[in-house]
Formats: sequence, C-alpha cells, structure tokens
Amino acid sequence: QRKKLIDEIYKVNKLATMYFYNKLFSEEGRQALTYIRKRGLTEATIKKFGIGYSSPHGNGLLNFLKEKGYTESFLVKAGLLSQKNNRYYDRFRNRVMFPIIDVKGNVIGFGGRSIDDSLPKYLNTPETEVFKKGKTLFAINFAKKTQQDKFIIVEGYMDAISLHQAGIDCAVASLGTALTEDQARLIKRYKGNVVIAYDADEAGISAALRGLDILDELNLNIKVLTIPYGKDPDEFIKKEGVNAFNQLIENADSLIEFKAKVFRKNLDLDNPQDRIIYVKKIAKDIAKLSDEVKREVYISSAAKVAQIPENAVRTEVARFVNREI
Ligand code: UTP
Ligand code: MN
Ligand code: MN
Ligand code: MN
Ligand code: MN
Repeated sequence: QRKKLIDEIYKVNKLATMYFYNKLFSEEGRQALTYIRKRGLTEATIKKFGIGYSSPHGNGLLNFLKEKGYTESFLVKAGLLSQKNNRYYDRFRNRVMFPIIDVKGNVIGFGGRSIDDSLPKYLNTPETEVFKKGKTLFAINFAKKTQQDKFIIVEGYMDAISLHQAGIDCAVASLGTALTEDQARLIKRYKGNVVIAYDADEAGISAALRGLDILDELNLNIKVLTIPYGKDPDEFIKKEGVNAFNQLIENADSLIEFKAKVFRKNLDLDNPQDRIIYVKKIAKDIAKLSDEVKREVYISSAAKVAQIPENAVRTEVARFVNREI
C-alpha cells in the first residue's frame, strides 16, 4: 500500500517536471526564462537539471493532472497542491522550479524560486511520503557518478547548478543550512572526502561548524573552503571564474585549520588573556570528540597555534570532558 503510494508520487512528480519544463518554454514562461538566462544558465543546464516554471494562475498543474485522472487529495499528499477550506490550488506559483532527484533517479520533490520578490524566496515541497528534507542532497544524482572521490557541499540550488555548469560536477547542495546526520551518511555511501563551500556569511559559517562535527564523526576527510567578500559559490564563480574557484578548493582549510580560524576570530593571540579564551573555546570543542586519537591530534595543533604547552590544552579538554559526565 505504502509502496504503491510512493511509486505513484514518483510518477506524478515526473509528470509535473515535464509540465513545468514545457511551461518555461511557452509564452507564459518568458519572464522566467529571461530570469534564468540573466543568471547565466545555459539551455544545456536547464535541460540537464530539468528546470521549469510554475505559472501564477494557481490551477495550471491542477487541471493538467486532474485531466490525467489524479485526485486532488492525492495531489495534496504528493505536495503539489495546497488546500484551503475546500479549495485546492497549485502549491507552486510564479516560481522557477528545480526538481530534486534522489540517487535512484526519482523526482522526490521541488524547490521553487520566486521571481517577483515574493516570500519565501525558495518554497520547497513539504514533507511527504517521499520527500524528507534532511535526508536529501540536491544534485547527488549527478555528483555520485563522478570519478573524483569527493563531494563539494554548497548551501543552495543555484550554487550547485552553477558549479556543475562550470564543470565542477561533484557539487551537491544541502538545501538550507545545517547538514544532518542522514545527509552525512548519504555522502559516506559514495565518497570519502568532502569540501564544504557554504556562503561566506555568519549563517554559513555557523552552519559549516555544525556540519563539520557530523561529518567528522563519520570519519570523512573534511576541507572547508572560504569564499571571500560575503558571496556564495554561484556569485563567486560568475564574477571570478572557475579557475579562481578551483584555487579556493586548492587552498581549502583542513577541519583543524578552519576551527582554529573561527575560534581565533577577534582574538589577539599575542595577548595572554586572549590566548586563554582561545584555548577554552577550542578545548570545549575538542572535548566533544569521541575519538581519542583525533582528540590528541587536535590538542597538539591547538597548542601550536596558541603557543602554549600541549599539556595545558589537554588539562582544559579533560575539564570539559569531566563536566559533561
Ligand atoms: P540563500 O538565501 O543563500 O539563497 O539560501 P541562494 O541559494 O543564494 O539563492 P539565490 O542565489 O538568491 O537564488 C540557500 C538555500 O537555502 C534554502 C534553499 O535551498 C536555498 O538554495 N532556502 C533559502 C529555502 O529553502 N528557503 C528560503 O526561503 C531561502
Ligand atoms: Mn543561506
Ligand atoms: Mn546565505
Ligand atoms: Mn545565491
Ligand atoms: Mn546563497
């Protein structure tokens, strides 16, 4: 029963993908197509990702799918319609549509970007029988097949798509900010290395920090890339080009380096008081690690940065560990 519902949702999502795609190239989709082109996406990219458009009317998809025999209540379950009182209407209206495809090639949901400044900027499929936001990575269907043993994790749809278009086809998007354990396990299933390339803003940095520990617990080899001047990967690559982005990958920090940088921020390590603050911050973080060996490696690196004896850091870490018990 449940299996049948799931298969039906995959099927209707594929139909909806075709519907949105055709809309984009119709008269109604002209503005959306202009928008997408202005953002630099090529025809080939639009096709590869199955990008489409949902019209503002609110009943286009509804009518299209009703004609094919689908019931409104099923379409609500699939996340394609919304219901208000006894009225049904298209969930996605006047948005550029990005199909979200799982590792087996099923369309499990959509992200829709508004093109008229209406909020939210991105509207996603709600949780359905097949769409669980924290369990998916956008573009994993392409990225899992690449030769390189790595994924580049970005925040947004457009970041992933831009990187793919530039030939960096191991990019996946975590869709929002904090990386979940399920997403980390999905990564681990395919690759051993990850480069985190989140937006260069406070939200991106704190999301990166949270994601790091999750990835580290699974013993993935982690690098963190920092994009200069508050941009995201999409904006950066458009402005600076793919070679510059590859240079950022090349210069990405290891997990330890990145954390050291973050904890060091606004501190002057020549100042003893600041050195103590730094050691306390990093010791608290190291104490969370379950792997003894890793803890030792981090302790010695933190000690080096702060130019204090390793034992001082080790003592601090032990205090935080004991406090937790
Ligand atoms: P951003 O706000 O960084 O947007 O959100 P973006 O990807 O750079 O979008 P553009 O370039 O303005 O088009 C990053 C990601 O967070 C999720 C989306 O997955 C988005 O790509 N998000 C953001 C939402 O789900 N809803 C929102 O309202 C905003
Ligand atoms: Mn963001
Ligand atoms: Mn951002
Ligand atoms: Mn962006
Ligand atoms: Mn962004």
